[in-house]
Amino acid sequence: MLARRMKLIDSSGIRKVFDLAAKLKDPINLSIGQPDFDIPDEIKEIGIQSIREGFNRYTVTQGIPELREAVREHYRRKYSVEFEDTLITSGVSGGLLLAFMALIEEGDEVLLPDPYFVMYKHLANLLGGKPVFVNTYPDFTLAPEKLEEKVTKRTKMLVINSPANPTGRAYSSEELRSIAEFARKHNLLVVTDEIYDHFIYDQTPDTFAKYYEKTLLLNGFSKSSAMTGWRLGYAAGPREIIESMKMLQQYSFVCAPSFAQKAGLAALDLDITQHIADYRSKRDLIYEGLKGYFDVEKPGGAFYIFPKAPGDDGVKFVEKAIANNLLIIPGNVFSERNTHFRISFAAPDETILRGIEVLQKLAKQF
Ligand SMILES: Cc1ncc(COP(=O)(O)O)c(C=O)c1O
Repeated sequence: MLARRMKLIDSSGIRKVFDLAAKLKDPINLSIGQPDFDIPDEIKEIGIQSIREGFNRYTVTQGIPELREAVREHYRRKYSVEFEDTLITSGVSGGLLLAFMALIEEGDEVLLPDPYFVMYKHLANLLGGKPVFVNTYPDFTLAPEKLEEKVTKRTKMLVINSPANPTGRAYSSEELRSIAEFARKHNLLVVTDEIYDHFIYDQTPDTFAKYYEKTLLLNGFSKSSAMTGWRLGYAAGPREIIESMKMLQQYSFVCAPSFAQKAGLAALDLDITQHIADYRSKRDLIYEGLKGYFDVEKPGGAFYIFPKAPGDDGVKFVEKAIANNLLIIPGNVFSERNTHFRISFAAPDETILRGIEVLQKLAKQF
């Protein structure tokens, strides 16, 4: 009954974890991919007010003009980047689906730095493309030499994600520049998922779009404004691609949620410095708690840390952690390898400390 393409994707890895987790009563939960703070009150008010005022109908497919213009102005002011066109999407997930649908066809190769955010691999497969993994272990650096080894005549695009889920790796401006050089040399399109752009701890924020013209930027409000359930994001880049994504949006999402678009206008330039300072100290807390016990890189951004599992078996280690009431995610959910595990530190300090205690205990058993 089902379309054959459904055989091309699966969710078995993560399902197994959640099945195990369902048995836990009050787990120490370090698995969650969203901030532990709520949408700022002033942003909520704008959403509520818009609903009250009757801003509840379809908006234009491409998104309200003032938000589209605000996105362009934001990048112009912050990075001196001029985008040809923008589209307001239903989260970055919506943007990814539309982008992949517009760009990938049978046999197209998509370069994916491994570890990767899960959607990239599954979307590429779903559309008949071929994910080509670029191994970035052990320090998650995306060196152009590694990319060169994997590029072929069929390579269509490269997807990058910095700061990254699940590793927390944030590329430096020099690294972004060298990735751009590689892409230019091979005339590749680059899709850059910058959803964690606010969550950067040791360097000034930057955007890949500054370094390369054939870039499709995806970003959104889920992480920076904690608006995960409001489903709001945007795509910006070459007009031809944005136009195609818009046409696909017309026949799928129709538009992003109306009230969320109004709220997004204020959220775009929201000052979340205090939250970022808090998350920097959470990053320090978890890193200091793990570094003597695990082989682990210090994350420069996002809210994840990706240590190596003792015994080199991520799934086995996570099963042990869950047996000790700690919920974390095995690395093979985000990778072709099963050697690591992901911790989210988007949690109260007290939860992080309880998690560290369990992890140290488990590490000592090896
Ligand atoms: C790297 C990355 N991209 C995209 C998304 C999806 O975000 P959104 O809520 O905007 O769809 C996530 C969410 O976890 C993510 O980690």
